[in-house]
Amino acid sequence: MGKAAAVILAAGEGKRMKSDKSKVLHEVLFKPMIDWVMDSVTEADIDNICVVLGHNADQVSEHLNKRGQKYTYVLQEEQLGTGHAVMQAREYLEQTKPEDVLILNGDTPFIDSSLIKSFYLEHKNKKNDVTILTSIADNPFGYGRIVRDSSGNVKGIIEEKDATDDERKIKEINAGAYWFKTDVLLEALSHLNGDNAQHEYYLTDTVKIISGQGLRAGTCIVDMKYTAGANSRKQLLELNNIARQLVFEKLFDAGVTITDISGVSISPDAEIGYDTVILPGTIIKGKTKIGIGCQIGPNSLIDNCVLGDNVVFNASQARNSKIGNNVTVGPFSQLRPDCVIAENVHIGDFVEVKNSNIGCGTKIAHLTYVGDSDVGGGVNFGCGVVTVNYDGVKKSRTIIGDNAFIGCNTNLIAPVKVGNGAYTAAGSTITMDIPDGALSVARSRQQNIDGWAEKKLKNRKK
Ligand code: UD1
Ligand code: CA
Repeated sequence: MGKAAAVILAAGEGKRMKSDKSKVLHEVLFKPMIDWVMDSVTEADIDNICVVLGHNADQVSEHLNKRGQKYTYVLQEEQLGTGHAVMQAREYLEQTKPEDVLILNGDTPFIDSSLIKSFYLEHKNKKNDVTILTSIADNPFGYGRIVRDSSGNVKGIIEEKDATDDERKIKEINAGAYWFKTDVLLEALSHLNGDNAQHEYYLTDTVKIISGQGLRAGTCIVDMKYTAGANSRKQLLELNNIARQLVFEKLFDAGVTITDISGVSISPDAEIGYDTVILPGTIIKGKTKIGIGCQIGPNSLIDNCVLGDNVVFNASQARNSKIGNNVTVGPFSQLRPDCVIAENVHIGDFVEVKNSNIGCGTKIAHLTYVGDSDVGGGVNFGCGVVTVNYDGVKKSRTIIGDNAFIGCNTNLIAPVKVGNGAYTAAGSTITMDIPDGALSVARSRQQNIDGWAEKKLKNRKK
């Protein structure tokens, strides 16, 4: 869309959320609403994007900067309404001179790229001066209503708080998404005033101005599941429910089984292979990729991970990590960020792994902490092994060679290296490197004192 630009409104306070966080950073399926909007605009091939910031501007710009895309930011110092927000983009629009401009509220996450494109085509084909995205709502409360004349021509948008009883009965609502001819928008903005119930400059009033000038105002009517917005926590839950169901349907089509949706929430950006089964209580966040034939859950959390095929992940948590084919994890284990787990690894119960590489076929069956470690393949960890990676000042790495056998309750005081095929005796505290193939015993030798208990008992007070 060469000659198009987008202006995203993200300056509002979002009072109804009752939050320290900007409304547009509130999440739907673990993804901030503003990210849904930015992804849609970018996927619609609009790269000329201006974001209006205001309330919590630093919070929002800091978040957007992490996306690694270039946006123009303009500041709306006082939040005097959506029309006033767009006025802050006047200079930007005058300089970049797009023929048409898309305006989107930052709190309507489901307007996707194909909708932005089709609604642009409608705008162009009908030669409209403004095209408003609308829906027919069962419960239009809170939304601006589309006012039409007896022939059906759009006359304006009336806000809930300014509407008469009759106008409140109108079911066609304004989604808060518009394509404008840029010059028409800029002209209309100069006529706005705050003469309304909220004493704000309403962007929606430009529609009345434009149609009053004899110019063309049109609509593109779509299902409410695309246009719902969130002003409150309750509406946020409604959006989560809509998105959650849409994600499930996409996954069912892709051959994923969800046996019971209780407590299951899956990010819209997750990819899951066919024949994978998701069990109750499973939360999958971020850009997680899960392979074919896996069993995930019950009661698991996976955030931004890549899992291979046939992984069994039971009642455990993993973040920012990679897990190979045929790995089993859990129950009750945790993979903290930056783990790379190779194929056929078994991680059992009460195991924590952090910032570590675990080689093929290694078994870490129970009650073990592996942190900052590079572990080879075919290693066996006994129960209760601890890599002692932190001395209170710095973190150090533990290196364990292929096929090593780490006895139960071994402490590996890092930095330390266990050679290929080396053994540690159970209960050892290893402070020095162990050569390949050696057995390291680092514990005091056992001493049995015959008859000791009998003597002790004689002197014991009754
Ligand atoms: C707005 C529309 C309403 C529409 C609804 C769709 C207006 C006047 N009303 O109402 O017709 O049905 O969206 O969801 O436009 N913002 C700013 N600066 C401000 C005020 C708001 O940047 O001074 C931003 C907000 O951050 C938000 C967006 O504009 O992203 C919409 O503002 P909000 O207050 O949520 O408008 P609604 O009352 O929902
Ligand atoms: Ca809103």
